[in-house]
Amino acid sequence: MAKVYFVGCGPGDPELLTVKAKKLIQKADVVVYSGSLIPKEIIKLCKKAELYDAAKLVREEIFEILKNSAQKEKLVVRLHDGDPSIYGAIREQTDNLKKVGIEYEIIPGITSFLASAASLGSELTLPGVTQTIIVTRAESRTKVPKREKISELAKHKATMIFYLSVHLISNIVKEAIKGGYPKSTPVAAVYRASWKDEKIITGTLGDIVKKVRDEKITRTAIIIIGDIVNPKSYEYSRLYDKTFSHGFRKAQVIS
Ligand SMILES: C[S@@+](CC[C@H](N)C(=O)[O-])C[C@H]1O[C@@H](n2cnc3c(N)ncnc32)[C@H](O)[C@@H]1O
Repeated sequence: MAKVYFVGCGPGDPELLTVKAKKLIQKADVVVYSGSLIPKEIIKLCKKAELYDAAKLVREEIFEILKNSAQKEKLVVRLHDGDPSIYGAIREQTDNLKKVGIEYEIIPGITSFLASAASLGSELTLPGVTQTIIVTRAESRTKVPKREKISELAKHKATMIFYLSVHLISNIVKEAIKGGYPKSTPVAAVYRASWKDEKIITGTLGDIVKKVRDEKITRTAIIIIGDIVNPKSYEYSRLYDKTFSHGFRKAQVIS
């Protein structure tokens, strides 16, 4: 049965590939990959595949390659940076494949905001600070629904993650402050998380714009806003508290 694999290859470091992703990449007959965001070391794992850089192709051309190759019973991989489900434009492809009777499977990958949190050494959901992560982007040529305006989302004062937006960081800061984050709120920008040339810039809503501009970072970065970046205080978790019982452990101390 003809099938296409949408494979997430993680944020960049080849050692962050899943075992499943690596096996598929090595066995693939055809690989369509997301150009600049996938390192050469990962592309080199394609031992025998015909390679196509998706950055140079339009939707219809990509679809034709996926469809024709799958119909010839080839092992076809559409290789995405990070995880395919995050800003990966896969739905338009999977729906069209279904229409012509081709199956698909998605292999998840480590998305770049998780690699960024790891590089920062941070926990994104810190008890006593926030239990919520909002993943979004600033509006540019791609429209963002009005109800998802940054100033509206910022009202929650949760951890906010921005993809595809570092070149718009001054708008993000303005909107975040308008929504209620104090100027002293910690912010991090992580450029090319997990790559050899990774850069981490930390600051506050008050000074991050200048710091990011000074480093000349205009693409391939994740912005994280919220107290979790540099918490003044937080609470210990209930889960590991000695007064807390749960299905796998009784409390050691009765509170
Ligand atoms: C088209 S989106 C694809 C996101 C990808 N599917 C993922 O899960 O990470 C591209 C954006 O992802 C972010 N990005 C991708 N790789 C990154 C990395 N290694 N470090 C920081 N940000 C990255 C940047 O915000 C970039 O503009």
